[in-house]
Parts: sequence; structure tokens; C-alpha cells
Amino acid sequence: MSSGTNILAVFGSTGSIGRNTLEVVRRHPDAFGIRYLTGNSNAELLIEQVHEFRPAAVAVTDPAAVTAVKSAVGELTEVFAGEDGLMEIAARSDYDTMVSSLVGFAGLLPTVTAIRAGKNIALANKETLVVAGEIISRLCSEHGVQLLPIDSEHSAILQCIVGEPGHSVSRIVLTASGGPFRGRSHDELSAVTPEQALRHPNWSMGSKITIDSATLMNKGLEVIEAHWLFSVDADAIDVVVHPQSIIHSMVEFSDGSVKAQLGVPDMKIPIHYALTWPDRLAGDYDRLNMAEIGTLTFEEPDTEAFPCLRLAYDALRAGGTAPAILNAANEIAVAAFLDGQLSFTGIADLIEDSLQNVTAGQADTLEAVIAADTAARSFAAAQIEHIAELNTTTRV
Ligand SMILES: NC(=O)c1ccc[n+]([C@@H]2O[C@H](COP(=O)([O-])OP(=O)(O)OC[C@H]3O[C@@H](n4cnc5c(N)ncnc54)[C@H](OP(=O)(O)O)[C@@H]3O)[C@@H](O)[C@H]2O)c1
Repeated sequence: MSSGTNILAVFGSTGSIGRNTLEVVRRHPDAFGIRYLTGNSNAELLIEQVHEFRPAAVAVTDPAAVTAVKSAVGELTEVFAGEDGLMEIAARSDYDTMVSSLVGFAGLLPTVTAIRAGKNIALANKETLVVAGEIISRLCSEHGVQLLPIDSEHSAILQCIVGEPGHSVSRIVLTASGGPFRGRSHDELSAVTPEQALRHPNWSMGSKITIDSATLMNKGLEVIEAHWLFSVDADAIDVVVHPQSIIHSMVEFSDGSVKAQLGVPDMKIPIHYALTWPDRLAGDYDRLNMAEIGTLTFEEPDTEAFPCLRLAYDALRAGGTAPAILNAANEIAVAAFLDGQLSFTGIADLIEDSLQNVTAGQADTLEAVIAADTAARSFAAAQIEHIAELNTTTRV
């Protein structure tokens, strides 16, 4: 990814990772170019981005946004609509790297299309590996594609293992901030509101991952992501709560040595690394001042209060389409929580219910993964409806 200008297609350019990626590009105009951008509903921002970066084409999924983007910048750039538009751009030959930063399952098929087109992938969309890790790993090796993580934890692991023999890794330790509700009991969590859950102590991110961080599902998804990225079993992946978010993760080696990667919590740094790997291009991001930070602390995650982490380990150990079921149920549950239809603790209950009731199978074809996703979504959505009916009856 390092020689010459890295020409990018930024999928989800209007989101948190997309905006951070464009800031990295602004700071390094010689190293990176923008050829394609995509957005969903934020037409206003996408239009601004088109004026600034002049992409060859954009794709927009939300129908109202398509109309707005076409009428504002249809003369300046080609505008593709819907999921087909995402695929059209992903398959284009004239870019080097897809920045895969859509949120949720929606990122899977565009990422698969880009891999099949031989593009390198800078991956933020962890859900792609969670639901289809086996398929993605196979496709990457078939097409000679580099899949480089943007997630700060996985970027940290990559930086720790660079130059080390693969067999020497004995354990991965993912750090977790613990989110806004660290230290609370399960009972105390039943009445927390979306507004409270959206206030992450260290990171500013999209709403879905912010809720995932509050439930610790984000860490669970990262355990599954680490399994596929680094070929490490669930038993050799630990999670430790580190509220300062300075150590982004650690690797223990077979001789007992442990390497950690540290840095200020700023997603531009792992994005920059994913886009310049295996080089290190100089960057003017904030520097770490250890004396100012003073203390780094660590504690065990509380899986009684935050069962989503345990559920993700269970799904990884169960294998097949269990992680796809976990992910789909989580997407439905998080949306329902943000919508006021489900309590915070109801998120884990719904996921557990879905894992118990939706049958898992092999996850070796996209069709199987999509079928599991669809089945889990419809099961979870029916449960939400049932809960809404019960609430109405109780109120009456
Ligand atoms: N944010 C972080 O710091 C961070 C860190 C590590 C990993 N990640 C991962 O990166 C991914 C993106 O996170 P984010 O925080 O950037 O999310 P976000 O701010 O919600 O942005 C999501 C992007 O995807 C677009 N989008 C949403 N639904 C879509 C759909 N159905 N079809 C096509 N496009 C759609 C959005 O468009 P509109 O905004 O135009 O609607 C936006 O561009 C997630 O998988 C997350 O877990 C994020």
C-alpha cells in the first residue's frame, strides 16, 4: 500500500471513520487521493465532500439523499443509487484501496466486491469479519488482497507483531475503555437512557458503535475480528478494561515478553497506519505525554453486568453462523434501544434469545451468512414487536 499515491474509495465517507479518513487525506495530499465516496442519508455533507475532493463518482443509498445529491452535484460527478451503486463503485478498476467504513452488515457485500476486484482493504467495518470471517479470509488469499485493520486495537496488535515469527504469538490482550457505565451493576443498568449510553468517555464515534461500547458488545465483536485477522483461538484472546484508552492492545509472545502499542485516542492514527503500512509516513497527530497521563490502570471486565462480551465469546466458540446471528440480533437490539423500544439490559437478553432460537449452520458461503442474518433479524424484530405489545397492554 505504500508506493506512490494511494488512491482511495471511501465507503461511508459521511460517517465518523469516513470523516477522519478524509482528514488524514487533507493532511497528506501527496500520499493519498480520493476517487470515490459513498454516503447514506447525510446528503449535505456528501455534497460538501464532492465539492472539496472532486471524486469520479459517489454512491448514495437513502432515496431522499440520492435526489438531493444528484440535483446538487450531478453535473460535477456521477451519482449512483442504492446498494447496486455501492457495488458498481466497489468493482471499479481505478482505485487502490477501499476504506471499508460503512456501519453494520451493510458493509459486507461491498467489501466482498472490492476484494474480488483485487483491492486492498482498510477495514473499519468489523461486522464484515464477524459475520463472514471464514469467507473473507479465503477471498483475501485467493485474490492476493491485504486486509489492514483500522480498529485501534487491531492496529495495535498488527504493530506489535510486525517482524515477529507468526508461531511466537501466545496471547492477544485487547484493551477496553469500559464505556460510560463501567463499575455499574446489572440492576443499575436497567434504566439507563440512550442519551447516557451515547456519552462515551474517550472516543467520539457513530451511534451504533457507541452503544456497542457501552454494552461491551464492541469488545466482543473485536474478539471475533481478532480471531480472523490474526488466526488466534478464543481461548488465547483476553480482554482487559483500561479506562484511559492509551494502551490500544497488547501481544504476549511465547517467551513471556509482552509488547503493547500506545498512543493518544485518535482514530486518525490507526487510519493513517492502515493506509501507509508497512511504511510509517510521518504524521502531525497529537503526541503522547506519559508524565501528564500519570497513571494507567487495568481491571477485569464484568461479564455479569455486561453479558454481551460473554455472548460474543460463546458465538465465536460455537462457530459457523452463530456470530452472524449474534451480529444481526445486536443490530436490531441497538436500533430498538436507540428508538426507546428496548431497555439497555434488554439488548443482551434479546441477543441471547436469538442465539438460542435461531439455528446456526455452516458459514462457508455468502448465501448461508445472508440467510442466518435474515433469520436472526426477523426473530429479533418479532421479539421487539412482542415487547411493544406487552408494554401497550400493561399501560392499558
Ligand atoms: N467511529 C470509530 O471511531 C470506529 C472505530 C473503530 C471501528 N469503527 C467501525 O467502523 C464502522 C463505521 O463506524 P462509524 O462510527 O464511522 O459509523 P457512522 O458514523 O455511523 O458512519 C457510518 C457510515 O455508513 C453510512 N451508512 C449507514 N448505513 C448505511 C447503509 N445501510 N448503507 C450504506 N451506507 C450506510 C453512513 O452514511 P450517512 O451518515 O450518510 O447516513 C456513514 O457514512 C463500524 O463498523 C464501526 O464498528 C468505528
